[in-house]
Amino acid sequence: MHIESAIFLESNTDFKKCPTPNLPEFAFIGRSNVGKSSLINMITGHKKIAKTSSTPGKTQTLNHFLLNKKYYIADLPGYGYAKTSKTNRRKWEKMIRDYLFFRPNLMNTFILVDSRHNAQASDLEFMEWMGENSLPFSIIFTKTDKLSTNALREAIPKYLEELSKTWEELPVYFLTSAEKSTGRDEVLDYIEKVSVVFVPQ
Ligand code: GTP
Ligand code: MG
Repeated sequence: MHIESAIFLESNTDFKKCPTPNLPEFAFIGRSNVGKSSLINMITGHKKIAKTSSTPGKTQTLNHFLLNKKYYIADLPGYGYAKTSKTNRRKWEKMIRDYLFFRPNLMNTFILVDSRHNAQASDLEFMEWMGENSLPFSIIFTKTDKLSTNALREAIPKYLEELSKTWEELPVYFLTSAEKSTGRDEVLDYIEKVSVVFVPQ
């Protein structure tokens, strides 16, 4: 898919106030600092459309973007962000889960995991929650530029092997680097492909 336009629409804390769900939507989620906002900038080709930071906990709301006037993209806050109060964490968690559960036009959620790390409990639990609620997801391995080709060749099968302990069928996955624009076409083509089955409400 070629990007003709990408615009930021709005930030919300309540899924009911998000843009009218009349277009296919894709959400990007994962632990704080994994690279969600950077990835959105990379795939849209607009370096500053989503706000990024080297300090975890930057994105705190549900942020909607419009791609090619045809797709909604949602940048979500990270889960597992420890440096905020318990009350805040619970509030975010509810905001995110309500959004994922009730958003009627959500076609797929990209769960981002750092390609340098072993499978983390918070990611596995989150995937399980998605599965239990029949919410489709795929995995995006981020920051692949930080690993050598050999290390990457070992890391990905190891992660998938961990997943296969609980999942009969493995999700679709992508290898990306926001730094080097790796995986851009693959993610964009997937968005286009999955959206074919979207039925407007
Ligand atoms: P929160 O909104 O805080 O949950 O974080 P996030 O997941 O949106 O992460 P963000 O995109 O803000 O990136 C976090 C840090 O990782 C920033 O310093 C980015 O520059 C860096 N980063 C993100 N993606 C990549 C990548 O592909 N390669 C490299 N080398 N650094 C990256
Ligand atoms: Mg962010």
